[in-house]
Amino acid sequence: MKKVYIETYGCQMNVADTEVVFSILGAHGYVRTESIDEADVIMANTCSIRDNAEQRILGRIGQFVLQRKSRPVIIGILGCMAERMKEQLLSDGRVDLVAGPDAYRRLPQLLEAASEGHPQIDVILSREETYADINPVRIDKGGVSAFISIMRGCNNVCSYCVVPYTRGVERSRDARTIVREACDCFERGYREVTLLGQNVDSYNFEGVSFAKLLEMVAGVSPQLRVRFSTSNPQDISDEVLETMAAHPNICRHIHLPVQSGSDRILEKMRRRYSAAWYLERVAKIRELMPDCAITTDVIAGFCSETEEDHQLTLDLFEKVGFDAAFMFAYSERPGTLAARKYPDDVPQDVKVRRLNEIIALQNRLSLESNRRDVGKEFEVLVEGPSKRSADELCGRTGSNKMCVWADTAHKPGDYVRVRVLDCTQATLLCELVG
Ligand code: SAH
Ligand code: SF4
Ligand code: F3S
Repeated sequence: MKKVYIETYGCQMNVADTEVVFSILGAHGYVRTESIDEADVIMANTCSIRDNAEQRILGRIGQFVLQRKSRPVIIGILGCMAERMKEQLLSDGRVDLVAGPDAYRRLPQLLEAASEGHPQIDVILSREETYADINPVRIDKGGVSAFISIMRGCNNVCSYCVVPYTRGVERSRDARTIVREACDCFERGYREVTLLGQNVDSYNFEGVSFAKLLEMVAGVSPQLRVRFSTSNPQDISDEVLETMAAHPNICRHIHLPVQSGSDRILEKMRRRYSAAWYLERVAKIRELMPDCAITTDVIAGFCSETEEDHQLTLDLFEKVGFDAAFMFAYSERPGTLAARKYPDDVPQDVKVRRLNEIIALQNRLSLESNRRDVGKEFEVLVEGPSKRSADELCGRTGSNKMCVWADTAHKPGDYVRVRVLDCTQATLLCELVG
């Protein structure tokens, strides 16, 4: 039995993929280890979304190589960097195997050949692969919440984004296998599934739309919470919002990346909506689900962004009052449309200053959002002990806010009712009700 250790970087999709990889390797006599010091195979499932993500992984390979001092180890690079950098990763002899996101079924053969001393590379992208039939080996220890990949790839070609190049064309997974996986999770004690895709609203499998799929998964059990990510503002439909509103177990949370508040920048980013369209979608969400949390992603300092453009982003944040946000400085990615067409002309210090202004604003908005919840009651899914104390539990509201409360009676996977007494910017401090 060979022991495999995998470090996972990047988005939730990569976490789901690592679980697929463990399943495939498990069927070929490999076992998972969480200790790098005893691994025969060390792999990183990698991310290319920004330059600093890649630099971090390149540095990490150096530490993997040190393990070779004590025993023979195979070092492999999986995921988006494998796909983007290809042979480059093999050039200095540190890496034995490079496998892109659609090559995981062939990993057992690749590993075997690599262990005979022949470096292996497989970065062929597929139009069909969805790993639909593979039952992932869950790597999170909680046993409460699981990721289910519902589609792969992306057809959007936003000008700054490397994902279409690393993940290939969009394809939707067979809806029946998704529902089966959700049922299986529920039977094994999971109480929450997150449906994953780069643009879930364009899910379509033999006429099953994303709204229909949501309804099917919500039907698995009223005790199973359903989340999803990511929604693209241009595609999120009223039908999806109405389906959410009709099912209390579909969580009241939409992650709706806006990227910028300036129409001129949105157009250069090739996002196919305007700030006004975005605000209309937000208004519609709130009309149908007044308690729905809205979170976002934003990029500061995209090519040619002016102070006025930046101010429009701050204005939009203020108007929406996001509950939380992931905020980034623009990082040019080789090969993307933006890299070919537009100079990366906002100086680094300006990017960082603008990013910090957005972060400061969002910190206030997050605190305000949490303060609005003080005094309210929520149903929370217990995840486990809180970080602070063994006498406290933590878990999330449907709106994805972290709660902590004193409790020694409940266990992970239970639903409890809590009342919010106080808050910080990141957490609701609660007490048990009833
Ligand atoms: N499919 C999702 C986004 C996936 S990437 C969507 O369309 O919303 C996650 C986030 O990384 C993006 O929303 C964007 O904010 C950020 N991002 C992507 N490319 C980037 C780049 N080149 N520089 C900085 N941030 C980037
Ligand atoms: Fe990238 Fe745009 Fe696709 Fe999201 S929708 S993965 S930002 S190309
Ligand atoms: Fe990164 Fe690839 Fe996800 S580039 S964000 S791991 S799709």
